[in-house]
Amino acid sequence: MTPVVAVDGPSGSGKGTVSRLLARRLGWHLLDSGALYRLVAVAASRGGVPGDEVAGHVRVAEQMQVRFEVAPDGGERILLGEVDVTADVRAEQTGQGASRVAAWPAVRDALMQRQRDFARDPGLIADGRDMGTVVFPDAPLKIFLTASADERARRRYNQLKDKGSAGSLAALSREIAERDLRDSTRSVAPLRPASDAFVVDSTGMPVEAVVERVIELGRARALWR
Ligand code: DC
Repeated sequence: MTPVVAVDGPSGSGKGTVSRLLARRLGWHLLDSGALYRLVAVAASRGGVPGDEVAGHVRVAEQMQVRFEVAPDGGERILLGEVDVTADVRAEQTGQGASRVAAWPAVRDALMQRQRDFARDPGLIADGRDMGTVVFPDAPLKIFLTASADERARRRYNQLKDKGSAGSLAALSREIAERDLRDSTRSVAPLRPASDAFVVDSTGMPVEAVVERVIELGRARALWR
């Protein structure tokens, strides 16, 4: 069976960066499950969802054609059909929309198989909120990455600033707190560490040190040498 490393945690915990670096270093595939929830929100707002709101989003989740590519400058490129929606997908506003649609169990079900299909040899790094608890419960290595709320808001702020779209740090802090509360209190697949996850607090830790820690944990489990 294809080995999966589950990397879960709240927004701004650094799991996206850590997952990308791990996948690159190991030559493994990467699943950015948050991007799929973001894409549902983007596709629904672009196409509109006539009729029942939840059913409309489920249809979008089932039918959307998405591609993850590497842009000519080495960054990411996300395509919805043939349209480049990268900036839209990464906008903070979309994170809020994604968190809202992600609370609907039927939308989560609609994305389940699509997420599992990312598991292909030689291995998968799966980044999200419920990778270790729901989508890949048998993953041989599960990491739950956290950091203090202040540090997470600061990291997110710097990320958005690099893209030229940051608002105020205080507003971002509030939005992140709101999103984390919704993600961890929803009835289905709430954000929480799997019982067999390693909890890594990355507050004050450089990203390379977090990657090294995961590499050590995987080595100890003979996932790689
Ligand atoms: O990781 P992110 O910020 O791109 O995720 C956006 C939202 O999607 C997040 O607030 C909650 C939701 N999400 C989820 O419910 N389950 C996942 N596995 C990944 C993301």
